[in-house]
Amino acid sequence: MAEIILEVKELVTYFSLPDGFARSVNGITFKIEKGKTMGLVGESGSGKTVTALSIMGLIRDEPGIVEGEIIFQEDGNKQNLLAGLEQYCEVERQDGKIDLVRKDCIKWNKRYEKNMRGIRGKKIAMIFQDAVASLNPLWTVGTQIQEAILLQGLCEEKAEARTRTLEWLKRVHIKKPELVHNAYPHQLSGGMCQRVMIAMALASRPSLLIADEPTTGLDVTIQAGIVELLKELRSELGTTILFISHNLGVVAELTDEIEVIHNGRVLR
Ligand SMILES: Nc1ncnc2c1ncn2[C@@H]1O[C@H](COP(=O)(O)OP(=O)(O)OP(=O)(O)O)[C@@H](O)[C@H]1O
Ligand SMILES: [Mg+2]
Repeated sequence: MAEIILEVKELVTYFSLPDGFARSVNGITFKIEKGKTMGLVGESGSGKTVTALSIMGLIRDEPGIVEGEIIFQEDGNKQNLLAGLEQYCEVERQDGKIDLVRKDCIKWNKRYEKNMRGIRGKKIAMIFQDAVASLNPLWTVGTQIQEAILLQGLCEEKAEARTRTLEWLKRVHIKKPELVHNAYPHQLSGGMCQRVMIAMALASRPSLLIADEPTTGLDVTIQAGIVELLKELRSELGTTILFISHNLGVVAELTDEIEVIHNGRVLR
């Protein structure tokens, strides 16, 4: 039987807005089989990024609420990434509409962080929608990859982390790794920043990679290069991928299965 690596059940994520609570994700359910690539497509504002951030435990805007179950399973260990959060959040509803939310933000965030320990960035990694903006402008890209490698405990020595960083830059087909290692994000093109993000995400050998619009904003030939790179690394590393995009052509080329999301719900 196929092994399920991620199962999202009735995920609801909502934020408080001046005129009430808005459900950005409104009861999403899907499964991803180990080793497969699943596409999540939908129009702008349909809730793709919020779904990804909920899985990564990165909903931090107060009071952002995440409900439902996100079950991550690996090597026989099953873990609900949202376990225990409900005890820190009380929701009053009237006619199905959220009326009042009482949330102990400190305890809620502490529990969310505890659930994600050893998972975020290590077992589940993410390539963010805007590669240039998600890199730190004050650090060279090499330092950022190196720090990620050290933080994930993949090696202890700085020199070894540097060697691994250069290997990863080569692996994502950056032609002059030494030069790029010492460059700041603004000195690189969008496509190169995207390659750097891919290197940083995969350096920890995650079992699941969430790629949020990794090719959007890049011109067509660069897009094709990034898709080829993801295909190549996927077959080399066996990584399961949740590939988010509104570009159906790219999704069709890369994925085994597609879920369509509209207004925070999966269409079936
Ligand atoms: N922090 C937040 N606070 C309030 N509302 C938010 C927040 N983040 C996202 N939203 C809202 O949630 C909805 C879904 O946003 P999301 O970013 O997931 O869309 P998306 O499908 O990724 O769109 P795009 O294709 O443009 O990236 C949008 O209406 C957005 O305005
Ligand atoms: Mg998005």
